[in-house]
Amino acid sequence: DADEFPSDFLDIDDLTTDQLAQVLARASDLKAGKDLTQLPRTTLAMLFEKPSTRTRASFETGMTQLGGHAMFLGPDAIQLGHGEPLKDTARALGGYADAIMVRTFAHENAETLAEYAGVPVINGLTDDAHPCQTLADLLTIREEVGDLSEVSAAWVGDGNNVGRSFAVGAALAGLDLTVATPEGYGLGDDVYDRCAELGTEPTAVDSPEEAVADADVVYTDVWVSMGEEEEREGKLPAFEGYQVNEDLLAETDAAFMHCLPAHRGEEVTDAVLESERSLVWEQAENRMHAQKGLLVELLE
Ligand code: CP
Ligand code: NVA
Repeated sequence: DADEFPSDFLDIDDLTTDQLAQVLARASDLKAGKDLTQLPRTTLAMLFEKPSTRTRASFETGMTQLGGHAMFLGPDAIQLGHGEPLKDTARALGGYADAIMVRTFAHENAETLAEYAGVPVINGLTDDAHPCQTLADLLTIREEVGDLSEVSAAWVGDGNNVGRSFAVGAALAGLDLTVATPEGYGLGDDVYDRCAELGTEPTAVDSPEEAVADADVVYTDVWVSMGEEEEREGKLPAFEGYQVNEDLLAETDAAFMHCLPAHRGEEVTDAVLESERSLVWEQAENRMHAQKGLLVELLE
């Protein structure tokens, strides 16, 4: 059955357009207290190979609110960080937990985990994708900006994990997307192919100015992602002119989005991040509501 809810959530297009709408509706209802679904005696194992504030705290709090439990497994604390293979970790954790959330480097790691765990695996960020962030972003846009099919968004800066999942999520939701990324730091051809398959490719433009001109929402993320620290010096020069600042937004009343953590003074200025147009705290809170919607749909 094509409409059966997927067993894993490794990227946003694991969901159909209808399933995405279903998760967002569920998230809204849970947030509003209209849906009182609980997941009692349910354990989410959370495997982290990179740091996190929001992902950890939102999943952990969300599981508590649903009457379940979340177990934090950090990189140094478990045998995975000391040589135990991922596929062994996967099978052991699958014997205890009802679902596993993973934050790791290679996207393939999340796939391996899903292959061996025998329980649903949720991607809490890989080098290629951040679909839980996309769920929260779409929920935020719907709440704060308008119907997804009527909104125009601009992605400005690095074509990274957050941008990649956002672009595919935009195509899935019928949101119009314009992209300005420096040469060599685009979203990737595979993203354009997946979007095309869903019916709408992002429009790539040459400058941030062009990207933001007709946008209702301007979204950016850090120029150096976790795991890329060594590339910093080589990467930064390409991003000159890509900062989201008051000049860039002077002619528009577009909202501003950022998944956080932000690097003030690089991809965004303090003034924009702290301005009235900034939706970053709504996005951060919505991580929890969106993920509760996802968990309930996956596990109920
Ligand atoms: N946006 C996000 O995933 O934040 P953390 O790295 O703090 O989890
Ligand atoms: N692109 C950033 C997102 C952090 C939530 C990173 O991967 O480090």
